[in-house]
Amino acid sequence: MKRNILLNPGPATTTDSVKQALMVPDICPREEEFGNLTQNVLKKITRVVNGENSHTAVILTGSGTAGVEAALSSVISENGKILILDNGAYGKRAETIIKSYGIQHITHRLAWGDYPDVEIIENIIKKDTELTHFFFVHHETTTGMLNPMGKLLKLCQKYEIDSIVDAMSSYAGLPIDIQKESIDYLISSSNKCIQGMAGTSFVIANKKKLARTEKILPRNLYLNLWGNHSYIENTGQFQFTPPVQIVYALNQALDEFFLETQNGRTARYFKSYETLIDGLNNVGLELLLPKEQHSKLLTAIIEPSSPNYNFMEMHNYFYKNDITIYPGKGAKQNTFRIANIGEIDYRDIEIFNKKLIQYLKENNIKI
Ligand SMILES: Cc1ncc(COP(=O)(O)O)c(C=O)c1O
Repeated sequence: MKRNILLNPGPATTTDSVKQALMVPDICPREEEFGNLTQNVLKKITRVVNGENSHTAVILTGSGTAGVEAALSSVISENGKILILDNGAYGKRAETIIKSYGIQHITHRLAWGDYPDVEIIENIIKKDTELTHFFFVHHETTTGMLNPMGKLLKLCQKYEIDSIVDAMSSYAGLPIDIQKESIDYLISSSNKCIQGMAGTSFVIANKKKLARTEKILPRNLYLNLWGNHSYIENTGQFQFTPPVQIVYALNQALDEFFLETQNGRTARYFKSYETLIDGLNNVGLELLLPKEQHSKLLTAIIEPSSPNYNFMEMHNYFYKNDITIYPGKGAKQNTFRIANIGEIDYRDIEIFNKKLIQYLKENNIKI
């Protein structure tokens, strides 16, 4: 099969074996065989973040936002109130979801690309004794920023509020120990660093905390976390028709993750990142963020000011060469973005670096 190098932040490049796992004999998802597969997939999803003893995974049909909406709409009681950190498009999206359900909240808003000040956040939490939950994004894909998850989680423990972490584009890419770090709800999807296909999202929930949400009056049906969880616990099946083939592919992707190991995957991604940074330095392109804030999974690059530069033209040039690059998304400076997740390695980034030199030269773009 033709291989494309996807440098967008997911759906990411997948292995041929994950693609082949989509081709399974037709099966009714109400069969025990599919139920067993689902149960195994859920266990493996929690194992990725060392959560098998303390946490349980709830899987939903839909893209990543389905998981975020399920968590946000299901775990905050009528009297609850959530603090949202907005320093990128996905913090902002969480606020949009919370507003649409009419849930009490406050938003700590920063320019997209500004690093959160933990002391300021602590003061907000200290002052607002009504707060029960804190939502933040681990890897803010808008800018490639790794938010200070450890410190933010410490605040949640100190002030006894529940954490809801959007780890969409970091889960399986960076090591996360959900037990040690004491994360209450962690959200990701099947198509980013776990290297499966798009179509499912999951919330990995602390078992005790999730059990308490049974008492909350459901605000929805399809995305209700407790509803989906209790159905699958009682019957071993998805509550609603699952994307059958996507679940088979996810199972394969999870097995391939355990074969590669978390350390192996992170090392492969980081080598690609270092190769990318060398290539960008070589042509003189500047980065949006200081290096110490980088996730090393995605890099936001400041767009050249040359009048000859046009993102879509550059995109089309790369696309013709089987490489997909990604535009910026509202960061405080104009950027384009390169992700180094998925089944690619530093040799693919070397190809990108060479083509970048060629593109800039052919189009007389001076940095
Ligand atoms: C951090 C983060 N949160 C949420 C989402 C939303 O996921 P989806 O586009 O799959 O709904 C994304 C997508 O890129 C993301 O990067």
